[in-house]
Amino acid sequence: MKISFIGTGLMGCPMAERLLTGGYEVTVYNRTREKAEPLAAKGARIAGSAREAIETGEATVFMVRDGAAVRDLLTEGGSFPDLTGKTVIQMSTIASTESEALAEDVRKAGGDYLEAPVLGSVPQATEGSLLVMVGGAPELFERWGDVLRRFGPEPRLVGPVGHASVVKLALNQLIGSLAAAYSLSLGLVRRKGVDVDVYLDILRKSPLHATTFDRKLPQILARDFTDTNFPAVLLLKDLDLARSEATSLGLDTTALQGVREIVSRTVEAGKGREDYAALYEVIDPGR
Ligand SMILES: NC(=O)c1ccc[n+]([C@@H]2O[C@H](COP(=O)([O-])OP(=O)(O)OC[C@H]3O[C@@H](n4cnc5c(N)ncnc54)[C@H](OP(=O)(O)O)[C@@H]3O)[C@@H](O)[C@H]2O)c1
Repeated sequence: MKISFIGTGLMGCPMAERLLTGGYEVTVYNRTREKAEPLAAKGARIAGSAREAIETGEATVFMVRDGAAVRDLLTEGGSFPDLTGKTVIQMSTIASTESEALAEDVRKAGGDYLEAPVLGSVPQATEGSLLVMVGGAPELFERWGDVLRRFGPEPRLVGPVGHASVVKLALNQLIGSLAAAYSLSLGLVRRKGVDVDVYLDILRKSPLHATTFDRKLPQILARDFTDTNFPAVLLLKDLDLARSEATSLGLDTTALQGVREIVSRTVEAGKGREDYAALYEVIDPGR
């Protein structure tokens, strides 16, 4: 089966590789060609344009920065191509409203559309253990199940297009909120001179503990966030998407605005491409 994959960044590169090792005939396209080249050595064909990739694949997976990038790539050359018989599998983190609009335009161009955003980062993308959330028609979910299972063992059909995207944003606002809350908590005990291991031992025995805390701890203690899984600048994008969707649904986003401000300052400090755990440096700057 011919699958095209557009966007071979931090996540897209290992995900496209999962398709190659799964026996698919894979065509890749990336705006910056060099980032796609390692995949050619592993058997992928590199397309010269997004249009060429879309025309080659029975389905095309999109794993790019945001909704605007997905739309630009789909309309390369000015308008949507003829998508008859083709499926767009949109896996980037985008607004549910952007996903709904894309679905509509893909349908008008004769194609099928599934959204399938993921939770998990580079290690999970590499080993195929992402949590894959799907929005779309059940028959499309069935048809593309084997492809989705290369990325995560149990893709979950959440509901119609828009529902998986909003679940993804709900989870990502939690990523930012948990990281900010943990950083303040950790900074508080460290500045007072409390033994961090004692604090963590108490935390781990409590219902307040989250496994993400332990994953981020080594980076925080070393104050080195350059081994990036999820760049701070992308978390900022997602917090803005979550805030805008929450506001339009009539929710109060006061707490999220504070978290957003912290992540924004992390990016302004030149740490946008570092892991989002670098927000610790805003809350507890080194002395
Ligand atoms: N990293 C994570 O832990 C993680 C986890 C779950 C979901 N996500 C989501 O997955 C998506 C990709 O994330 P990533 O971490 O792989 O990001 P990344 O390493 O920054 O890669 C972004 C990709 O998008 C492409 N791109 C950006 N703007 C574009 C444009 N205007 N036109 C065409 N291509 C464009 C980039 O191309 P160039 O190489 O040319 O810049 C690159 O291929 C994002 O939506 C992110 O929020 C990330």
